[in-house]
Amino acid sequence: MDHEQELNESVAYILDHVQARPTIAVVLGSGLGDFADNLVDREIIATADIPNYPRSTIVGHKGKLVFASVGNKPIVAFQGRTHYYESNNLKSVLFPVHVAHRLGIKQLIVTNAAGGLNRNFVGGDLMIMTDQINLTFVRIPGFEFSDASLRPIYSHAMIEKAEQAAAENTITVRKGVYVGLKGPSYETAAEIGMLTRIGGDAVGMSTVFETSLASSLGMEVLGISCITNLATGISPTKLSHEEVTEVGNRVKHTFARLISATIALL
Ligand code: HPA
Repeated sequence: MDHEQELNESVAYILDHVQARPTIAVVLGSGLGDFADNLVDREIIATADIPNYPRSTIVGHKGKLVFASVGNKPIVAFQGRTHYYESNNLKSVLFPVHVAHRLGIKQLIVTNAAGGLNRNFVGGDLMIMTDQINLTFVRIPGFEFSDASLRPIYSHAMIEKAEQAAAENTITVRKGVYVGLKGPSYETAAEIGMLTRIGGDAVGMSTVFETSLASSLGMEVLGISCITNLATGISPTKLSHEEVTEVGNRVKHTFARLISATIALL
């Protein structure tokens, strides 16, 4: 079966199993999946039941599509994403974005857990992504010689909405550039020094492919990083996946308030 047919089969299954027809989607990163558990009007599909849908193998990633309401707006939350390092397979990483596009999603909020590079950041900070540096040295198909600077990946209007939502709810947010690496090892102190000097504020192992594709498909894209830790060489303590998950747990309520308030303004 070709890619197009696979996608059509997945989307047909989803449309067959839910009533809602949202235009807003949220991709929930490591440790941030709880957002979708507390929403109303929920219709849930396990991604394992969707034909052709890629599997996530990471602890803390649930693998569900949660259709629900935020305020009175229908949304779909993707709980559990696939990372490039899991399979070195871009198709798996991009599949949910293609599905979202075919479901009629116009505004995509992508979230992640990230390490802080900016020395003003502290663990637990939330950062609105203003731009990204794709340092995976992998480019998604269809981007050959395209000039992303002509059409910024991240929507200026959505960034303003997120800032407004934060201000109205007295949530402190940072803004900055996200550096996407392949992982899955954490960085050396020298690598962190490099990432800081090239203009990064946060570093992680996801997001850059999904956001590039979504923007090229014409979606408006917002990115929110949860700074779970200060990166190696900046932080005095050894970094672990548990720390990332633990800080995610600590800020998940603030994170959920920010996402909900932002959606209310869209
Ligand atoms: N580095 C890379 N990815 C991450 C980090 C980090 O420090 N924290 C959470 N995801």
